[in-house]
Amino acid sequence: MAIIDLELIKEKLRKKVPPELYDHSIRTAEVAVRMAEVFGVDKNKANLAGLLHDYAKSMDGDNLIQLATRMGIEVNPVEMSVPYLLHASVGARLVEEDVGIKDKEIIQSIANHTIGSPAMTKLDKIIYVADMIEPGRPYKGLDPLRRMALDDLDKVFLEAYAHSLDYLIRSKKPIHPLTVEIWNKLVLSQDA
Ligand SMILES: [Fe+2]
Ligand SMILES: [Fe+2]
Repeated sequence: MAIIDLELIKEKLRKKVPPELYDHSIRTAEVAVRMAEVFGVDKNKANLAGLLHDYAKSMDGDNLIQLATRMGIEVNPVEMSVPYLLHASVGARLVEEDVGIKDKEIIQSIANHTIGSPAMTKLDKIIYVADMIEPGRPYKGLDPLRRMALDDLDKVFLEAYAHSLDYLIRSKKPIHPLTVEIWNKLVLSQDA
């Protein structure tokens, strides 16, 4: 990986997102680095992906839809009604184009941090889980996830995904079609 000026990247992020989101990004990166150490993943990649995963999160919905369309990212009906979901795929592209991160694994883990994908790498799973369990998250029910986060990456990812799905159903939010596909793949691979 090319030499990266971390301070410069943090400055870019600081200008792009509000302070709470900046702090969330720092904490996500810290958790991601700890998990990367345990699960044998490149710590620098985990740090950068954690720092930059919400790069596009403070953009408003119309802006996200517009940008996605301009970037050739397909916007499905669920994303149309919940454009916030696009902050992952749009953010990944902006991190590549504006911040200059060319590493495909980092970019992919940013793109996959909200809905996921049927083929999650270890780094993708780490960013997904770290984003959810970083210590600033107030949600009830995260403590079991925090306890298992350094034990078994597949297991904690499955539990984290179940947690998201549970939240969507309980709060009567639409479920992205890909989420159903990913969930089925996860649970079916359990007994394989
Ligand atoms: Fe996010
Ligand atoms: Fe996040």
